[in-house]
Amino acid sequence: MTAKQGLENTKISSHTQKVQRTWLIFGITLLFTGLTAIGLAVAVLLSHNNSASTASTSVSRIKSGPPSKEADLIAPATIAAGTKNVSNDPSYFTRNSALRKSFYGLAYTPEGSMLPNCGNSLESVIRDVQIMSQLTDRIRLYGADCDQSALVLEAIKRTKVDLGVFLAIYPVDGDPTAYVRQRDLIKDAILTYGSDHILGVTVGNEYLLNYLRAHNGSDPDSALARPAVDVMKSNVKDTQDMLTALRLPKIMPVGTAEAGSFFNTEVLGMVDYGMSNVHAWFANKTVSYAAEWTINFYQKKNVKAANKLPNNPTMYLAEAGWPTRSSDLANADNGVSLASEANLQIFMDTFLCQAKKDEIPYFFFEFYDEKWKDATFGGVEGWWGLFNADRTLKNVTIPDCSL
Ligand SMILES: *[C@@H]1O[C@H](CO)[C@@H](O)[C@H](O)[C@H]1NC(C)=O
Ligand SMILES: *[C@@H]1O[C@H](CO)[C@@H](O)[C@H](O)[C@H]1NC(C)=O
Ligand SMILES: *[C@@H]1O[C@H](CO)[C@@H](O)[C@H](O)[C@H]1NC(C)=O
Ligand SMILES: *[C@@H]1O[C@H](CO)[C@@H](O)[C@H](O)[C@H]1NC(C)=O
Repeated sequence: MTAKQGLENTKISSHTQKVQRTWLIFGITLLFTGLTAIGLAVAVLLSHNNSASTASTSVSRIKSGPPSKEADLIAPATIAAGTKNVSNDPSYFTRNSALRKSFYGLAYTPEGSMLPNCGNSLESVIRDVQIMSQLTDRIRLYGADCDQSALVLEAIKRTKVDLGVFLAIYPVDGDPTAYVRQRDLIKDAILTYGSDHILGVTVGNEYLLNYLRAHNGSDPDSALARPAVDVMKSNVKDTQDMLTALRLPKIMPVGTAEAGSFFNTEVLGMVDYGMSNVHAWFANKTVSYAAEWTINFYQKKNVKAANKLPNNPTMYLAEAGWPTRSSDLANADNGVSLASEANLQIFMDTFLCQAKKDEIPYFFFEFYDEKWKDATFGGVEGWWGLFNADRTLKNVTIPDCSL
């Protein structure tokens, strides 16, 4: 959509966005807030754009390292008779020369992964995995509903790409069955696919933030947060026990993801890793300062807090990015910089290689524009993708950080 069309939508400016503005003084994101509470309403709005084909007549197997034209293009005719039909084999696919493995990690949710409608498909996830594997070695998920863990692991298996994945459980306040259901799906996926490609299991995303917001609080270590802290501790412990009982060949890390200012000390004190969502956009920082601010916030607040704990959890910068447009005028900028592709480019140019240099493990937010977020929250929420909803790359050049 064009900026003009965006301006026509000024009436959408919603309460949600105002709440966000208020809260984001803490420099965090409210993405996924209220996700499940409104899941039912959202479901009908979900769009399942699974039409694009993963098959290609030009067969090329992706290898790590710099592109090599000869190695990448094997004409079907050169495949010996008797070998399988490679155009049906997702491990052969066309490389996009605009893509580079410049990202530590990417934030990803397979399209159609919310109850009750679901609608995700292996075909669609295979296409995503083929693209993402040209950008990074690792991805993080946010939940396990609609069997998304198994779909991603099956897609990795079929594409034969070297992609690691942080699986995730998205617990829902007031609905303990959500946790149990997702835990069991993850257990099944591990029993089916093994643990080779699994980097960890994340319990919760912004659970404390959502709980405190619903209760008009802001301090994750306050008495007000206690019920939410107890739920998180119990869920983390239960996930740890489930994984221990599986006797996996490697120790499987268990972590939690939270908005940058909302880590509870007790929860962080019992996990192997903490994933911190930090957004300069919502903290009203200029795009030229955004990368530096994001890295500083993560290091000075999150890494420092983690280093003080006896369990010394590994910290990840789990969401960092910049939106490319808004569905309403009120959020067209954050007070100081525009939501635009040109600014996404600036953020990528200033963040990606600097984060690599500083050895910051981060997940770029996010892989593609998620239509349901725009339909549900409006504003900039649906426009954080590196790719458009149809999986075409936005008008950006991916920096080369190999130098
Ligand atoms: C960010 O700017 C908006 C106006 O664009 C304002 O409403 C909001 O309070 C500001 N937030 C912070 C954290 O300064
Ligand atoms: C290979 O599969 C493609 C796609 O299904 C099909 O169009 C093509 O005819 C097949 N080729 C052979 C030799 O079977
Ligand atoms: C939170 O504050 C709002 C506005 O002051 C009030 O209407 C609401 O009842 C409060 N909610 C709780 C859970 O205290
Ligand atoms: C794409 O980005 C370039 C550089 O930022 C800009 O000059 C060009 O106009 C953009 N193209 C479109 C179609 O927006």
